[in-house]
Amino acid sequence: MQLDFLGDLQRTHTCGALRAADANKEVVLMGWVNRRRDLGNLIFIDIRDRSGIAQVVFNREVNAALHEKAAGLRSEYVIAVLGKVKQRDPSTFNKNIPTGEVEVVAREFRLLNESKVLPFLPGEPDAAQLPNEEVRLKYRYLDLRRTPMQANIELRHKIALAVRNHLSGQGFYEIETPFMTRSTPEGARDYLVPSRVYPGSFYALPQSPQLFKQILMISGFDRYFQIVRCFRDEDLRADRQPEFTQIDLEMTFPQQERVFEVVEGFLKAAFQAAGIDLPAPFPRMTYDEAIRLYGSDKPDLRLPAMVGVRECFTPAELEKLAIDPGLPVVAIRTPKVGELSRKERDDIRPLFGERPNAKLFEDFNRLEKGYSEAVTKIRALTKAAADDLIVLVAADGSVARHKSEGGVKPEVKQHDHAVYTAAGALRIALAQKYADRHKAFAGGRKDADSYHLLWVTDFPMFEWDEEGQRWAAAHHPFTSPHEPDMEKVLAHKDLGSVRALAYDIVMNGTELGSGSIRIHRQDVQRQIFYALGMTEEEAKSRFGFFLEALEYGTPPHGGIALGLDRIVMILAGAESLREVIPFPKTAKAVDMMVDAPTPVSETQLRDLGIKVKS
Ligand code: AMO
Repeated sequence: MQLDFLGDLQRTHTCGALRAADANKEVVLMGWVNRRRDLGNLIFIDIRDRSGIAQVVFNREVNAALHEKAAGLRSEYVIAVLGKVKQRDPSTFNKNIPTGEVEVVAREFRLLNESKVLPFLPGEPDAAQLPNEEVRLKYRYLDLRRTPMQANIELRHKIALAVRNHLSGQGFYEIETPFMTRSTPEGARDYLVPSRVYPGSFYALPQSPQLFKQILMISGFDRYFQIVRCFRDEDLRADRQPEFTQIDLEMTFPQQERVFEVVEGFLKAAFQAAGIDLPAPFPRMTYDEAIRLYGSDKPDLRLPAMVGVRECFTPAELEKLAIDPGLPVVAIRTPKVGELSRKERDDIRPLFGERPNAKLFEDFNRLEKGYSEAVTKIRALTKAAADDLIVLVAADGSVARHKSEGGVKPEVKQHDHAVYTAAGALRIALAQKYADRHKAFAGGRKDADSYHLLWVTDFPMFEWDEEGQRWAAAHHPFTSPHEPDMEKVLAHKDLGSVRALAYDIVMNGTELGSGSIRIHRQDVQRQIFYALGMTEEEAKSRFGFFLEALEYGTPPHGGIALGLDRIVMILAGAESLREVIPFPKTAKAVDMMVDAPTPVSETQLRDLGIKVKS
């Protein structure tokens, strides 16, 4: 078709704006042809822009030439329509769209651009019609035209804006920190940028602005925040991207409760932007409680906690069931699962997997025969309704006996932990398997009851790294130990029991954010590096600038970072971060649209002093 010039035509309304009150107005709409319906004498065009859809009508009897031109329109052509708004007959109201009581009777239209035949129709609202994700990502510009994607990106904007406004109102300055910097330890690999001027030297893209924000506190800025891109070369999953966005903040002189209050404030504002009134403060739970009650440091509170039921059995019963009497016996209740068939019960076992030291009792009802008293007590303790599923997880008695026979003193705490986490993983697997029965996981809802936030506190300071045979920082090495545990750190004693002033914010089983009160004393920081197996030289070469900064009047400080993408994902009811990041990478860290990464030219490599091994 022949293209028209735009000329001096000016849009008067967006497509989604028209209402009955606009009847009889002369309007100019511009947008994409969402759909064309040809009814002989009448052609209906749905014209779409960011704001919505309006129906335009072309009548052959009124203007045959214009009608003929409209017949040439195809999906995603870009047009400008001039016409008059007309109230529709009530029998033809379209209740599905806000503009459904009116239509625009076209007097003229200009074809501003055509579209090739599309790999998929962005105007098609039915997600089932979508091609596979690779095609969506390759043609991301088309994918982003789809209404659900437009809504996700709008939501993202609103959430970021709400957070910004809230934090600014609380006295936080938004301060930028560099992208070309040195490696920061957040546990992933760095993305490196080679220096041309210093061949063989590299900048690292920040895994987080951790050290810069601490330095800003040393510089006296008191309250900093940034909505900031971070870069991590790590294994990707649905909730991980190689570049992602943090809501990052740091404060001077806070108790951890002050940090919680700030986060509760901006999360309330963020949820409000999504139309949800979130109750705050959120519950607090120590790491130990989280493990005991949920078998995870990311408890999903949408379903009942686990219950310790060992005391419901007599010692003789435990012996008969080959359950270790010294370790926890955990009951998991999944609501509303209903009666299970034999086959369905058999399907539970694979969810538990191979766990050599733990036992699963998936057929709780069968225990009724020999252990009816215990079963009754467990039903009461777990507050089980008749249609709830109960399974038990315990430690294998034969394993513990075997260990003590061999003279090995079992490390009880660690074994407790293993039973709880095995049960916790099964709890989630069961919850997912029967999600359509208990319905607690339905995403993207507007009721505050669907979102369970909590703080997990008092994490251990160190984790034993079996592979490296050394202690690793459970959060990061700038986290402060609890003051009463400081002695142990300074004396390098009993490091496994040192608690950290570290906290996570968790929603529906996902870690949204993580933070801590930091070390502000240079002697403590040095000891932590030492405990982590760093020599004086290593510490100096990696963090010398920071250790030095700590020596010039560093105030106590602390902060946190939350994943913006994860917050938007959950509020959008999306299953993957890719649904809420405009230009995401695939699980293999590829940008399908621009085709990155790619090899670069020999000249570029030569300039950088880089030789690539084939
Ligand atoms: P942490 O490493 O726990 O802490 O990160 C904080 C939050 O960032 C989000 N996040 C991610 N989101 C998407 N893709 C990823 N690959 C990814 N990695 C992390 C998560 C996570 O909870 N500097 C510290 C914070 C601090 O101590 O203040 C830090 O970065 O939602």
